[in-house]
Amino acid sequence: MIDLHAHLLPGIDDGADTIETALKMARIAVDDGITHMACTPHVTPGVYDNTKPDILKRIAALQQRLDEEAINLWLLAGADIHVAPHLDERFRRGEIPTLNETRYFLFEPPHHVRLPGLVQFAGVLIRAGYYPIVTHPERLSWIEQHYQTVLDLKKAGCLIQLTAGAVTGRFGSRVKYWSERMLDEGIVDVIATDAHDPRRRPPIMSEARDAIAARHDDELALKVTEGMPLKILADKDLAA
Ligand SMILES: [Fe+2]
Repeated sequence: MIDLHAHLLPGIDDGADTIETALKMARIAVDDGITHMACTPHVTPGVYDNTKPDILKRIAALQQRLDEEAINLWLLAGADIHVAPHLDERFRRGEIPTLNETRYFLFEPPHHVRLPGLVQFAGVLIRAGYYPIVTHPERLSWIEQHYQTVLDLKKAGCLIQLTAGAVTGRFGSRVKYWSERMLDEGIVDVIATDAHDPRRRPPIMSEARDAIAARHDDELALKVTEGMPLKILADKDLAA
């Protein structure tokens, strides 16, 4: 499986705190059947001002450490990018990374408020050639009131990423309901761990894959855990 969303890089956001924690998480991921992991630290202006050059440097160092430890996990670059102005310009200038240098990037909407103009904003980025992968809409506190916004984002050409733990009920029944509903409605493109630590939010995808296979079929389970992530990393055309 391919995990496109994980806070594995130690010490630069609220994910892994130390290199030891990162190694522990990497071992959990490999044991779970994850072969590739995008390291996607938060990029949130004024909170986590992570930059592409620094993220790339840290990934190279962590990859070297994984190789030394014989942990068979292939790391890729990315970022968990909070909605902010001028993202397209910042991609173009190389200040912040897309996923694996593709046109696709993780796009985190504000958790507690539905930003007016969010769909239009996504449209501007798409027309500039950058495709948002909307991160964990199932966990947004406003999804009940504004589910249509999620559908509109999808219609505008965004991809949709659910959290693996949400599908299996780790975030409670409400979040599980929305995960299942979006899977049932066929709008989900990718499942990712959004791992932050080894225990509370571990890098485990197999449980979600199996749950999706049981509720739907193997084809969908494979698509969201491997097929689509692979196409995204290869920068294939995916827009609806
Ligand atoms: Fe995240």
